[in-house]
Amino acid sequence: MSEDLSLFDAIYSCRAMRRLDTKAVPEELLVKLIDAANQAPSGSNMQRARWLVVRDPDQRKKLAALNKTAVEAYVGPQSGRAGALPHQSAEKRQRMLNSVLWQAEHLQDCPAIVIACFEFDAPVSGSEASRAGSSLWPGVQNLLLAARALGLGAALTTLGLSDRKASRAVLGLPDNIEAFGLIPVGYPLGKFGPVTRLPVAEIMRWDRWSA
Ligand SMILES: Cc1cc2nc3c(=O)[nH]c(=O)nc-3n(C[C@H](O)[C@H](O)[C@H](O)COP(=O)(O)O)c2cc1C
Repeated sequence: MSEDLSLFDAIYSCRAMRRLDTKAVPEELLVKLIDAANQAPSGSNMQRARWLVVRDPDQRKKLAALNKTAVEAYVGPQSGRAGALPHQSAEKRQRMLNSVLWQAEHLQDCPAIVIACFEFDAPVSGSEASRAGSSLWPGVQNLLLAARALGLGAALTTLGLSDRKASRAVLGLPDNIEAFGLIPVGYPLGKFGPVTRLPVAEIMRWDRWSA
């Protein structure tokens, strides 16, 4: 795959790619992903998004352990997770769950884990921090699309950061930096294909909200 993939082709086939090869991703490509993320807009052009690229095997192992614990809670009987949704059959949902479980088993072997962070002026608590996400997610989407264009697999995840204290300790984050997303990146084992989304007529209105 090349950067010649059209933007629209990338948008329409940018599925969460959780099954990744262990093959290393060249450093220049990882830098390219972060550079693409860095082109995204931010409130008042403050540019506070920060990107931590984790390649060290011990670090990956620690993040994988945190993710596994969170995934186990997510799939457990008490999680309240829907088995099917109006727009996603039980079968499709099960397929997604299988890939989440595969990732939970293999995260430590994925060549690079990008942590999407935000730098504040001063230390913040978790709840204050959540508002900053709006200036970070555009960069995350740029990164996912850039990965798709380069033929790399990536998926935005958050479960591995749910134990805020433990994940912050692993990542060595100072008090004024918060982690929002954990994005494993590698060469895809699965196939890229069209994303399944609601029809545009269902989610769009003109001029004024109507039923
Ligand atoms: C805010 C956010 C948090 C997410 N957290 C996780 C996660 O912790 N683990 C995971 O495997 N996928 C996570 N995802 C990925 C979604 O499950 C995925 O985007 C959705 O199922 C659509 O998948 P598709 O793009 O392959 O169709 C997250 C996505 C978003 C936007």
